[in-house]
Amino acid sequence: MTPVVLGIETSCDETSAAVLRGETGLLGHRILSQDVHELYGGVVPELASRAHLRVIDEVVDAALAEAGIALADVDVVAATAGPGLIGALLVGLTWAKCVAYALGKPLIAVHHMEGHLFAPSIEDPEAQPPFVALLVSGGHTLLLWVPEWGRYELLGETRDDAAGEAFDKVAKILGLGYPGGPVIQRVAAEGDPRAYRFPRAMLAANQRPGDADYYDFSFSGLKTAVLTRVRELEAAGRLPSEVPNLAASFQAAVVDVLVAKTMRAVEEKGCRRVLIGGGVAASRALRRGLAEALGEGGRLFHPTPRLATDNGAMIARAALFHYEAGHLAPLDVTARADLPFPGLAR
Ligand code: KG4
Ligand code: ZN
Repeated sequence: MTPVVLGIETSCDETSAAVLRGETGLLGHRILSQDVHELYGGVVPELASRAHLRVIDEVVDAALAEAGIALADVDVVAATAGPGLIGALLVGLTWAKCVAYALGKPLIAVHHMEGHLFAPSIEDPEAQPPFVALLVSGGHTLLLWVPEWGRYELLGETRDDAAGEAFDKVAKILGLGYPGGPVIQRVAAEGDPRAYRFPRAMLAANQRPGDADYYDFSFSGLKTAVLTRVRELEAAGRLPSEVPNLAASFQAAVVDVLVAKTMRAVEEKGCRRVLIGGGVAASRALRRGLAEALGEGGRLFHPTPRLATDNGAMIARAALFHYEAGHLAPLDVTARADLPFPGLAR
């Protein structure tokens, strides 16, 4: 019998629940984005926890109602156990633990980034390993080699800011609001990506596989370079009209680095299959850049925007894999802000 998984995600500022039958049967799905954080230009952890607590019952009920399934008919209960904001994580995981205990259902504790890895396979059954994976979110930038589900080789990661974090910080510098990615994409469409030559960090032609920085990323210098330009333009009274050019040039710098490092992995692994996940995978410029670099013989797997940013469906999908592999969580499992990626080798 195909299991029905209830997936809960509350690691940051989205409260989400999904009912997934098998790998691709997304029967019900609700994502509630918290807007209180807009006032502060970033996520306020305590406000996030309280908001999750307020709405979690309604969000799960709505997903179940859409699926036409009673809670008692769910086979597996899953929630994100980390990484993320600890208070926010505890709301979803504790909710799942209580339901699993009360109904006597198996519980699966999911790593948030592994959820992002599984997201494209909900909509595209061919989005299966082997592939090179680029996971780019507000908190993480990971380049992985994935020979099979559950076995992950870490090729590179960011040394400072995550890719999404760079979008969020630069949007704040440009006065565009939060979250940064979508609004930078919108404003960049009116600008020239070649207007400013921003740095492409850790991208030198003489780097070789095995060099420490061959696959790693760094985005904090780029953010500072944008800030310096913004101050100069402000002093000259030219900032407002240059915002589209700055946004487009910044976006191009991030995309160039992400594409170049991903293509290094493609070459080294001899595998022209790439999967992108995480909020920044919603970027049209990134998808276009990777598709062009991969060319005719390559395959690019990416989630639709709704499954790119945080959602319960990807948690349910990753949970299904672990359920079938027998990786059940004990009822005393706890959330961890720094949960290690399961199956990850360096
Ligand atoms: O995966 P996600 O929803 O949450 C985390 O796990 O962090 O990713 C959110 C991040 C934010 O930093 C947001 O600015 C970025 O994804 N993002 C984008 C786009 N849409 C969202 N970045 C670039 N281009 C986009 N279109
Ligand atoms: Zn995420």
